[in-house]
Amino acid sequence: MPAIAYLECSRCHARLPADVPQTLCTQCTDQPAGALYVRYDLAHLHGSSPREVVGEDASSPWSGMWRYRAVLPEVAPVTLGEGWTPMLRSKRHGGVFLKEEGANPTGSFKARGLALAVTMARHYGLRKLAIPSAGNAAGALAAYAAAADIEAHIFMPRDVPLANAVEAAAYGAKVTLVDGVISDCARIVGERKQAEGWFDISTLKEPFRVEGKKTMGYELVEQLGWEYPDAVFYPTGGGVGLIGMWKAFEELERLGWVRPGKRPRMFAIQSSGCAPVVQAFEEGASASRMWQDPATAASGLRVPKAYGDYIILDILRASGGQAVAVSDEAIFASLRDWAANEGIFLSPEGAAATAAYDQLLASGVLSASDRVVLFNTGAGLKYTDVVAAALGLASAGHTAR
Ligand SMILES: Cc1ncc(COP(=O)(O)O)c(C=O)c1O
Ligand SMILES: [Zn+2]
Repeated sequence: MPAIAYLECSRCHARLPADVPQTLCTQCTDQPAGALYVRYDLAHLHGSSPREVVGEDASSPWSGMWRYRAVLPEVAPVTLGEGWTPMLRSKRHGGVFLKEEGANPTGSFKARGLALAVTMARHYGLRKLAIPSAGNAAGALAAYAAAADIEAHIFMPRDVPLANAVEAAAYGAKVTLVDGVISDCARIVGERKQAEGWFDISTLKEPFRVEGKKTMGYELVEQLGWEYPDAVFYPTGGGVGLIGMWKAFEELERLGWVRPGKRPRMFAIQSSGCAPVVQAFEEGASASRMWQDPATAASGLRVPKAYGDYIILDILRASGGQAVAVSDEAIFASLRDWAANEGIFLSPEGAAATAAYDQLLASGVLSASDRVVLFNTGAGLKYTDVVAAALGLASAGHTAR
């Protein structure tokens, strides 16, 4: 594992040291301050063969996402077995691969970012972490904090899926349910953190959640034989995974680990009930505006303004991708379609990606022969209450209609 050389601001490119916990750039003259990227000296790996470096021993603590330890910080991991999730082939669409992130601990891709963020928090000796969350990040923080014996203070909307509230409480986190959305939760964390001594582990306000999520980029390339797909569909709230994967592609190219070829077109998928990135993309804007009255049953997408919107929009444009909105109706139709026809119970967020795929195939933006990776970012089973309500299916104590 490499030592971190420095942290680099995504806006002004200032370099900050990583020997103390950092949040946002302290050198930016324009506000909001830039998010920080983790940089290493990887010169010793240039020209190496990824197969030799990455290794295969599934029984070692270096399995899962830690197979990429050569490009992760040099610290002892707090791990619950995250990463190396299945890349499933669609039965019906020849070019479509489904990256099944529901197989992670706590049933979502949030495990990757929070495994690394909590690993680093323990390394720095932080004792109290706070997070505003749309739901799944809360569950993941609660689990990793319990594993690391660190306090977790969680703020999430009162109407999160039941599983998110139950898991966070079961892991022993201090949970506050807020009347509002994730931005209201973020405001509360911001107001109280100094007095409470909390380290704010919000999306992009510390560098390691992106760094953990970049493993999705390494993984999808490895699982496709160290080749890029033509397109990646990512259900986007705060956009951490999209930003992390793009960073992985940059690193893979510098290392020479990916076959030369065009980077995938990146598609950010949102619900039409909360689509600030889509709006900004369509307006040609460099940042988004706060979305008023966000409303979607895909709770992970209920993010009215992403802190890293400027990075997301840059990536979409640089890759030749798009931001796409799908209705909740289309989301639940696709969820039902994939469950009944592929045997895969998607999260509503994942079903936003599959619905968007159908939409872009029909409109000719993609062709059937394109190799496309769709992210199912969470397990459908975390949403039984939400899905039961949306589809009128049986829920606990009730009979199917
Ligand atoms: C299942 C699921 N998908 C997607 C997202 C959005 O993730 P990001 O904030 O990385 O864009 C979330 C966030 O809560 C989520 O829980
Ligand atoms: Zn800066």
